[in-house]
Amino acid sequence: MTSEGVDQLTVRLGATERHSFLAVVTDAMLQLPSYVPDLVLSERELARYDAFRFAQKRAGFLLGRAAAKRALAPMLDEETWPAIDVHPGVFGQPLVRHEHALGVDVTLSHSNGMAVALAYPAEWPMGIDLETVKVDVAATVLAELDPSAEERAWLATSSLPPAPACAVLWGAREALGKALKTGLNSPLRLFALCGITQSEPGGWVGGYANFPRFTWRVTQIGSRALSLAFPRDIEFAHWPCL
Ligand SMILES: CC(C)(COP(=O)(O)OP(=O)(O)OC[C@H]1O[C@@H](n2cnc3c(N)ncnc32)[C@H](O)[C@@H]1OP(=O)(O)O)[C@@H](O)C(=O)NCCC(=O)NCCS
Repeated sequence: MTSEGVDQLTVRLGATERHSFLAVVTDAMLQLPSYVPDLVLSERELARYDAFRFAQKRAGFLLGRAAAKRALAPMLDEETWPAIDVHPGVFGQPLVRHEHALGVDVTLSHSNGMAVALAYPAEWPMGIDLETVKVDVAATVLAELDPSAEERAWLATSSLPPAPACAVLWGAREALGKALKTGLNSPLRLFALCGITQSEPGGWVGGYANFPRFTWRVTQIGSRALSLAFPRDIEFAHWPCL
């Protein structure tokens, strides 16, 4: 398998520099002969894949694992994707099994025919999320989010319409849930954002009201929002253009 098209993101903490790799896989790519399940999945993943009752679940799983393998292959120096196993931990968090996996973590997300994955140094916990901006469910999702006073003030004053605004609030929170490895199985207000600032057209940055050691970044890509939660003290040398 090739790692072409995978974005290498240099990450720094003071003088310490590490690499992380961001990969994207779309439904269209799954039609390529190199993306058949046998060439993507480990034996254990194949057993999970076969056990899904619904084709949509199977396709989402394959998409996510293909993105994870694309991101992990250069990090682990492994060309044979089935030799990399991504196994769920007790909270559903993805755990990497491979002879070079010590100190390597992966975070992934799939949404409407696209999956993204970031392979990163485990010492700097990160979480990724991909949301599809959906106008028809924005009001329901906003109610579920239980926005804080600061988030409500941002919603009222931001130039963003409710649907993409909702994708920012939801995506950045979900990314933190993944970085913490718990997912969102806690009262959602706990993950509230603070200091929401537009960094560029289609880009927002900020912090977390209750998790000051983490920061987040959301980039709007067409009808999707890509969110990343990461330690406040680390810096990315550049930000990916998907
Ligand atoms: C983490 C969570 C939010 C992911 O939601 P999702 O809709 O499946 O979204 P995504 O496609 O973005 O992410 C899926 C991937 O997240 C990763 N993930 C799941 N649980 C995780 C956890 N605890 N920590 C880190 N990553 C996790 C997995 O790799 C998963 O893909 P896989 O199952 O194919 O390996 C979800 O599993 C969760 O915590 N749910 C809690 C219940 C909830 O959603 N409450 C909200 C109230 S409305």
